[in-house]
Amino acid sequence: MTSAAFLWGAATAGHQVEGNNVNADIWLLEQVPETSFVVPSGDACDSLHYWRGDVGLVRALGLNCYRFSVEWSRIEPSPGRFSAAWLDHYARIAAACRDAGIAPVITLSHFTSPRWFAERGGWTQTDSPMLFARYAERVARRLAPWASHVVTFNEPNLPLMGRWIATPIADPGRRGLDRMLAAAAHVTGSDRFDVWVYSHGEDVDLLNLLAGHRHARLAVKAARGDLPVGMSLALPDVQAVGTDAGIAAYRRNAEMPFFAAAREDDFIGVQTYGRLRLSADAVVPPPVDAEMTQAGDEYYPKALGVAVAHAHAATGKPVLITENGIASADDRQRTRYITEALASLDDTCASGVPVIGYIHWSLLDNFEWRRGYTQQFGLAMIDRRTFQRIPKPSARTYANLVEARRA
Ligand code: BGC
Repeated sequence: MTSAAFLWGAATAGHQVEGNNVNADIWLLEQVPETSFVVPSGDACDSLHYWRGDVGLVRALGLNCYRFSVEWSRIEPSPGRFSAAWLDHYARIAAACRDAGIAPVITLSHFTSPRWFAERGGWTQTDSPMLFARYAERVARRLAPWASHVVTFNEPNLPLMGRWIATPIADPGRRGLDRMLAAAAHVTGSDRFDVWVYSHGEDVDLLNLLAGHRHARLAVKAARGDLPVGMSLALPDVQAVGTDAGIAAYRRNAEMPFFAAAREDDFIGVQTYGRLRLSADAVVPPPVDAEMTQAGDEYYPKALGVAVAHAHAATGKPVLITENGIASADDRQRTRYITEALASLDDTCASGVPVIGYIHWSLLDNFEWRRGYTQQFGLAMIDRRTFQRIPKPSARTYANLVEARRA
């Protein structure tokens, strides 16, 4: 962790910060009357225009890595038609990172896809892996000179995290999602508007997703053979309550297929926010006296070290922590979280687990999907009228912790 090459970064995702991502599938979900988004993303943080400020903030914090995602729906606004202008836009961001001594970690799919892709059935279609690979190839060819690492998918295992439960409890949230997806199918005249992140676990076409990952990796490698490629998984510290039966079922569904695919990759991306306690057939709620986060999750920063060790043991790959963070309106809680999460990472690194870098989620308070702007994950807050980025005290603490580890 003291090597100069260790990546210390912060992350954003296109749809969550850019604003006006009007050709994306999720943008449409935000607009239908049956939406389950509390507000539409609108201008978000207007990073489309203020991206230089984002890169400048990363640099001002003394970080050497910025993870951002490119938006497929801008780059390929209709099937097979690619926008040179949007590819140039993302190339400018990557080049500006390098000029500032920052390694750009580029995500190809951070939950959003083009609306045309969702309308034709998304990842349920047999040609979906090739469509994704064709897009990946264009991105890789344009961004390869500057990219440090490429992440194909952000958390493709997310919809599968509930699939292990044999008899799922009635989920009113699920009914809302189904109504929203049906409404999007209706307004687009589509048989099925497929947005994989909001699918039932049962409906996710795992084979197509994993083939998409594999083909995208090959496309990136064809553009630049030495550019490291991997995917980022949602990996809580999974703990057994009473019996290991639940964990075994969970790992079979939400981890193993992805870990198997990652064995062909250059690294495994780990995204950890806390722990998940499982009995034989249910998720066990946090202890009654647990400290909670703004998102209603248990505050549990030491999950990070455990998840990192587990991901490495399961894949044999070096780990890039592509997300770790906390939703909190109380920035002192975030300060403690970062300090304790990094301490747990120190222990894991000391035990010999190879770690490439740590990228905090998030650089900015941003559009937290269906929860809109109610959750503060950022190292910096945003004045959403002037779009001014205002670093919080936790950003300074993070910068100091990084500095101390470099010394
Ligand atoms: C996602 C981010 C999200 C964060 C906090 C991660 O699962 O990659 O897009 O904002 O969690 O909920």
